[in-house]
Amino acid sequence: MSLSSKKKHGQMDRMLTMEMARVVEAAAVAAARERGQGDEKKADQVAVDAMRSELNNLPISGRIVIGEGERDEAPMLFIGEEVGYGGPEVDIALDPLEGTTICAKNQPNSLAVIAIAERGKLLYAPDVYMDKIAIGPGYAPGLISIDASPKDNIMALADAKGVDVSRISTCVMDRARHGDLIEEIRSVGASIRLIGDGDVAGIIHTTDPEVTGIDIYMGIGGAPEGVLAAAALRCTGGQMQGRLILDTPEKKARAAKMGVSDPDKAYSMEEMAQGDVLFAATGVTDGNMLRGVRFDKNGIHTHTVAMRSSSGTMRWIESRHVDANKF
Ligand code: FBP
Repeated sequence: MSLSSKKKHGQMDRMLTMEMARVVEAAAVAAARERGQGDEKKADQVAVDAMRSELNNLPISGRIVIGEGERDEAPMLFIGEEVGYGGPEVDIALDPLEGTTICAKNQPNSLAVIAIAERGKLLYAPDVYMDKIAIGPGYAPGLISIDASPKDNIMALADAKGVDVSRISTCVMDRARHGDLIEEIRSVGASIRLIGDGDVAGIIHTTDPEVTGIDIYMGIGGAPEGVLAAAALRCTGGQMQGRLILDTPEKKARAAKMGVSDPDKAYSMEEMAQGDVLFAATGVTDGNMLRGVRFDKNGIHTHTVAMRSSSGTMRWIESRHVDANKF
């Protein structure tokens, strides 16, 4: 049954969006206490612990499909772990600390993120790389394609936006694997924002170029992060495609075990996150869309966005938490 197909479930869906905000707030506050300490593992671990205990307060029968890893490599929030105290059967994609290095270095745009969808509606992406392309809302369907050249995608976007190509700003991860991509984008005359980590934020940033200065995201990052970003874009509007990079027999076999029958398939945003989707993210460090957690004498301040695909609503939630022991 759809998360919102019946009134009762629509109501549940709405309540759940707010409950999800609590889950990401808790993970973000825990991680923020470790901000700038140079210890990625610890920052991740405290975020995982905090997220897990909040998740178990949710009225859902949740199953993690994108989490901290396979059961044998992640003691908590592993793929297949069941969370929640009972309710609608849902699948969950999460990353208690997206951008562990960013947090450890106290650089911009690390987030705590979660997406919830009906059972079976999120792509079960193995922990491999994914080639991704994304733009924000307001463009004709099919404007961009993962099979087109970066140059053609950028020219099409500039044309549709009605601006010179020099006004198009691309977000790309600063990785050696992107040498050719970066060269091609610059040769067309578009600008590039190179990010060290955190492509979930990079992709979400395409949805509001006026605020973030990013029009299009291109390049290779984690596949689990691709599914999380697709869930967010399903709620905000926008276009995204992704292709798993299954360049060894071992990766192909791992993907096949998770239900991927065509290793070369280009997934649309709708195929990565189908049906009714809920998404929430809290800033850990200051970012272009979300402020990081602040600690002051009045309490702990968090900045969260919570969204629902069925209504397209985005809620920006500024919270003050006075009970520091809660976290
Ligand atoms: P973590 O939060 O696990 O550190 O991931 C950060 C990240 O930058 C993702 O946003 C991105 O998808 C992935 O790592 C890219 O992987 P790599 O660092 O191997 O290029």
